[in-house]
Amino acid sequence: MSNNWRPATQLVHGGTLRSQFGETSEAIYLTQGFVYDTSEAAEARFKGETEGFIYARYGSPTNDMFEKRMCMLEGAEDARATASGMAAVTAAILCQVKAGDHIVAARALFGSCRWVVETLAPQYGIECTLVDGRDLANWEKAIQPNTKVFFLESPTNPTLEVVDIAGVARLANQVGAKLVVDNVFATPLFQKPLELGAHIVVYSATKHIDGQGRSLGGVVLSDKAWIDEYLHDYFRHTGPAMSPFTAWTLLKGLETLPIRVKQQTANAARIADLLADQDKIARVIYPGRADHPQADIIARQMSGGSTLVCFELKGGKAAAFALQNALEIIKISNNLGDAKSLITHPATTTHKNLTDEARAELGISGGTLRLSCGIEDTDDLVEDIVRAIGALA
Ligand SMILES: Cc1ncc(COP(=O)(O)O)c(C=O)c1O
Repeated sequence: MSNNWRPATQLVHGGTLRSQFGETSEAIYLTQGFVYDTSEAAEARFKGETEGFIYARYGSPTNDMFEKRMCMLEGAEDARATASGMAAVTAAILCQVKAGDHIVAARALFGSCRWVVETLAPQYGIECTLVDGRDLANWEKAIQPNTKVFFLESPTNPTLEVVDIAGVARLANQVGAKLVVDNVFATPLFQKPLELGAHIVVYSATKHIDGQGRSLGGVVLSDKAWIDEYLHDYFRHTGPAMSPFTAWTLLKGLETLPIRVKQQTANAARIADLLADQDKIARVIYPGRADHPQADIIARQMSGGSTLVCFELKGGKAAAFALQNALEIIKISNNLGDAKSLITHPATTTHKNLTDEARAELGISGGTLRLSCGIEDTDDLVEDIVRAIGALA
């Protein structure tokens, strides 16, 4: 297995563990447990004296392949596959904090992620300060003597703001805290948080990694020392493990990830430019455009644009709903990263639980729509959007 492979090769061959049958496609080991030849062998396995699997909640061969492939791509030493992206986020944060500790998180987070730090963590005596993550000074001001974790996503869901990951990592290092980055929107191809100084990376594998709307999954990646010290026991004993069947679908997803993301990004870039020229659109936010408010940070930390476009219609909620309803190819759905183009109205779906004030702070208005571009023919998507915009009053 070569660590020098380029990503497209890693994603096809990385981590493969062939059985004695020499199968081409990775095998699915749908087993809960493992048998031992002797009592002594079982004892030695449990003591950690011999290598091998013990119980599928701890780890299993198909999951191991998925974790190793993700480690290769991410440049991480170790990983744990989880049942969903939220299981990954929750495990990555809660495994390393205790009552009396403090978390600093960007306020622009996916709704459930924000609930974990803003509502759940305080129930266990863990304080959280939410900041406008675009300005490093806000992160610095929020630091307390008991700050243990920094948490951010970049680009953010849905308004595609970015956070200076290297800058936040520097602050975390100054106070001995760990930076957790939710890298879902960037994809593992366009942004490498560990190289930028982050300590832990999490994914909802439900998104681009599966990319075909089939499986919920997640993954936490870091160095071996952090996983051994913090995540290992938490993961084994709280049980957020991924099903081996899911690990298999995600291995298949990883094989085609670069091809899909390339087409999705090309579609998104063309649609962002198209939307920017329309009178009925008030603003377009796209990380690949020069007019993105943080284009300088994007140039420093991302190697590609985005598969998503965020835009605001001049006519508010009524116009946003009418546009969604007029689309034929692009489907209304709150998922993203799929082969199918999907559009969502964050204010009434993914971010409906925020207060009006919190939504306004994040720039989510009634007219805001988030478009996740699929792999369809670009011209068909363009025609769908042009026709739907044309139908608006
Ligand atoms: C940025 C971000 N993080 C985490 C999640 C949670 O992932 P999952 O739905 O797989 O639990 C999502 C998606 O829903 C997301 O968009």
